[in-house]
Amino acid sequence: RTEITELYSNTAELGGKTVTVCGWVRTIRDSKALGFIELNDGSCFKGVQIVFEADRISNFTEVTKLNVGSAIVVTGELVLTPQAKQPFEIHADKIEAEGLSTPDYPLQKKRHSLEYLRTIAHLRPRTNTFSAAFRVRSAAAFAIHKFFNENGFIYVHTPLITGSDCEGAGEMFNVTTLDADNPPRKEDGTIDYSQDFFQKHTSLTVSGQLEAECMAMAFGKVYTFGPTFRAEKSYTQRHAAEFWMIEPEIAFADLQDDMRLAEAMMKYVIQYVMDTCPDDIAFFNQFIDKGLVERLNNVVHSDFACVTYTEAVDILKKNNDQFEYKVDWGTDLQTEHEKYLTEQVFGKPVFVTDYPKEIKAFYMRLNDDGKTVAAVDLLVPGIGEIIGGSQREERMEVLQQRMKDFKLNEDNYWWYLDLRRYGGTKHAGYGLGFERLVMYLTGIANIRDVLPFPRTTGTAEF
Ligand code: 4AD
Ligand code: MG
Repeated sequence: RTEITELYSNTAELGGKTVTVCGWVRTIRDSKALGFIELNDGSCFKGVQIVFEADRISNFTEVTKLNVGSAIVVTGELVLTPQAKQPFEIHADKIEAEGLSTPDYPLQKKRHSLEYLRTIAHLRPRTNTFSAAFRVRSAAAFAIHKFFNENGFIYVHTPLITGSDCEGAGEMFNVTTLDADNPPRKEDGTIDYSQDFFQKHTSLTVSGQLEAECMAMAFGKVYTFGPTFRAEKSYTQRHAAEFWMIEPEIAFADLQDDMRLAEAMMKYVIQYVMDTCPDDIAFFNQFIDKGLVERLNNVVHSDFACVTYTEAVDILKKNNDQFEYKVDWGTDLQTEHEKYLTEQVFGKPVFVTDYPKEIKAFYMRLNDDGKTVAAVDLLVPGIGEIIGGSQREERMEVLQQRMKDFKLNEDNYWWYLDLRRYGGTKHAGYGLGFERLVMYLTGIANIRDVLPFPRTTGTAEF
């Protein structure tokens, strides 16, 4: 059995030879004694044309009755067709139907809306758009591992069930074995977790960062790549309840090192995906986002911009009349502001650094001004924030004070504080939202269309 992608990469060699391909019927048409099937197997963007003739296969009539969506195995000669649009076709000697389909198969040859296709997440990977999106997703994931591996990082696995809230944003999904409707309660009315499986309150992780910091204090350079969960109510095109994050953490490093790493990683992954998925990217460039290839090329070949939060706010304040949410020093930047900065002002990816300490997480290193922290967000056109990172607070007393300010219970973080007690160093890291990266690479506007089975508020159908 040969995959269709191999037929394209080895066409000259395979010309005139007999090959066997397996796949799903995209289209089928026939006239009297001759028929054509467009077959896809998902191994690449392109399909292959199967030509079948009454006097060459034994089950011609049966094959003409195949419905779109059927799974078939075809053996035949690979015939070079240098004059035609496709460089070759397969002249079938044998066509076996492994799995028939029915006339009500939802993916008939016509354009379906993305909204409709979301309702059939189990079938949509067989369409051009989703086939391409999930191949790009796979290539991007591989590129990330390749990048960090080539740069000497250790890949670490951090827990999904956790007893601490990394971001302190209170957006965690609870995990408990207690009866949700009637949990045991202590005298003061609070839930008694002593009978819970973990004997304490636990949640699904919002970030693997704190554990990644532990690993960085042993390996120097580490990264995580795993699912994270946020019960965010924001019903936006870029928020999912379950999404994947890549979180590198580097010891003996500051914010500048962090930004250098982020920029190198972004460029590497973009270049890798453009090199390995040219047909998929060309498809997105033609049908989803006309400026995609030009934009990605520019990103690879120019330096990212960099401004401080304070500078960014000065720019935005001058344009407050354009925004739904008005900006002032101290406010968090909304998507509209992020997009304005990266699309209208800089026209490329931009790092925004040194945010007010009140609007960022407790672990970020306090700057000498006492007002801002060594945070960095990377904003990109079309999306807004794609990366959030920081230099971490390595000074014990400052960290303890920050935890007090955020009303965090030190008992839950004793191990985190230990890192400052035993050989703490300056260190930094960031989190890249993987879905936002895939959106950026494909031009797809909605996060629901880059996750195979998206979970957002109100949807966990599949
Ligand atoms: O900015 P965030 O919240 O940063 C952290 O979680 C840090 N602990 C990362 C670190 O320093 N190790 O999230 C990081 C990125 C965001 O920039 C965004 O791309 C993505 O994760 N993200 C989401 N993606 C999809 N759906 C959501 N609900 C997301 N929330 C964050
Ligand atoms: Mg963030």
